[in-house]
Amino acid sequence: MANNDDKFKKVISHAKEYGYVFQSSEVYDGLSAVYDYAQNGVELKKNIRDYWWKAMVQMNDNIVGIDAAIFMHPTTWKASGHVDAFNDPLIDNKDSKKRYRADVLIEDYCAKIENKIEKEVKKAAKRFGDAFNKEEFLSTNGRVLGYQEKINTILSRMGKSLENEDLADVKALIEELEIADPLSGSKNWTDVKQFNLMFGTKLGASADSAMDLYLRPETAQGIFVNFLNVQKTGRMKIPFGIAQTGKAFRNEIVARQFIFRMREFEQMEMQFFIKPGTQAEWFKHWKEHRMKWHLSLGMGEDNYRFHDHEKLAHYADAATDIEFKFPFGFKELEGIHSRTDFDLKQHEAYSGKKLQYFDHEDNASYTPYVLETSIGLDRMFLAVFSNALQEEELENNTTRTVLKLPAVLAPVKAAILPLVRKDEALVKLSKGIIDDLKWDFSVAYDEKDAVGRRYRRQDANGTPFCITVDGESLENNTVTIRHRDTMEQQRVKIEDLKSIIKKEVDVKEWLMRM
Ligand code: GAP
Repeated sequence: MANNDDKFKKVISHAKEYGYVFQSSEVYDGLSAVYDYAQNGVELKKNIRDYWWKAMVQMNDNIVGIDAAIFMHPTTWKASGHVDAFNDPLIDNKDSKKRYRADVLIEDYCAKIENKIEKEVKKAAKRFGDAFNKEEFLSTNGRVLGYQEKINTILSRMGKSLENEDLADVKALIEELEIADPLSGSKNWTDVKQFNLMFGTKLGASADSAMDLYLRPETAQGIFVNFLNVQKTGRMKIPFGIAQTGKAFRNEIVARQFIFRMREFEQMEMQFFIKPGTQAEWFKHWKEHRMKWHLSLGMGEDNYRFHDHEKLAHYADAATDIEFKFPFGFKELEGIHSRTDFDLKQHEAYSGKKLQYFDHEDNASYTPYVLETSIGLDRMFLAVFSNALQEEELENNTTRTVLKLPAVLAPVKAAILPLVRKDEALVKLSKGIIDDLKWDFSVAYDEKDAVGRRYRRQDANGTPFCITVDGESLENNTVTIRHRDTMEQQRVKIEDLKSIIKKEVDVKEWLMRM
């Protein structure tokens, strides 16, 4: 596909055309940065959620799940720091009247320098061929080191300025780097201001007794306030984790990247409660473990990297992002944060209730430290979907659009195609196969158009298997099974279909790769 912009447009239109993602309230021209998941999208999203839940909760005997409410007592957000500090630094362009996140403008500037590094690497790889050593090149090439030094200096200055609330310096940095409005090219900027991202609402019938509430901006706080309830009722021993998936809401200033940055989105978070002093080893453990989970899906090692935070959130003593190569470049997919005892201590202070753990081995009580893994389900959806969408040149000089979703996540695992739709016996046999397979897999029936066109349609839909039922099937109970990625076809017994499909789509087979 031509360039990254084109690829991203194609992703968005394909998501709509094949029933994955629709703009919310489209008949009213949509609502900015809010999306609906359609008939295929909802299945893909559920499969991603299940894949995460299985790996985090079911496979770990010391992690349990909860489902806390979206509404929480408003003091929660005072205690967590969100009322005072959950802000984005925003800047307006005086000419275009467009609003931007100041930190994102600076990060995008650095991403451009990074692209230059990538170009140098590509050039050198071509020049040196097999003898090329990327690590060595990155650590010795003068030009690359210069670029990297520049990125480090900029990001470290931005990090310090944001931490010290020195917004004038953030503006000064934008001006010194001569960063222009990406749309208009104008460099005429306002001052940088802080903007709180929480949505407010009210609980109660009458105006005077109504209570101000927030829609939760992260699911994590529902876990913190339930920490002791879960620990006691589940008789959990430290280290242990509490996991949850659910909606979160943020009034994002810049929300132009489809489902990458939404105002209503879903998170999959896990808080791991540990003994103070052990956070460094658990941070390393969860970094490695989460990366293995991503790699198990086979979406290419080169598409992931860690990015350690320059600017730490108010609650963290270490943090890293797992970044993924989206069509618009490497961006955060998941955050891994060492949150210390900040949240539990804050909730203790604001609620006046003890949130401590009694350690029988040490015969002492303490406030546990917390290691958090937090991934956006929608962002994971975009990573999976955009990486899967490919256009292939075929030998007969045609192209095919194929959605190479990891088979374990595909919304429909197999489509059953009677070769001739008017042949009642073929239709009956096809429906019989569906009735048998649908207990184990989500399957579809497709009888319209020539079989070649149906294959293409299922390829574009991401269906890993097409099962064609023809005259021979009636004679000897065999069918043709076609594999989406290789387009290979095999003649197999109908009774073997289940085991053939299972081998390719079974969660266990995929998670065993971790
Ligand atoms: N509890 C920690 C926390 O919420 P975060 O880095 O703000 O940390 C975690 O968010 C993850 O949630 C991100 O890595 C991203 O995948 C997802 N996320 C955050 N804001 C989002 C948005 N506006 N739209 C979609 N996903 C978002």
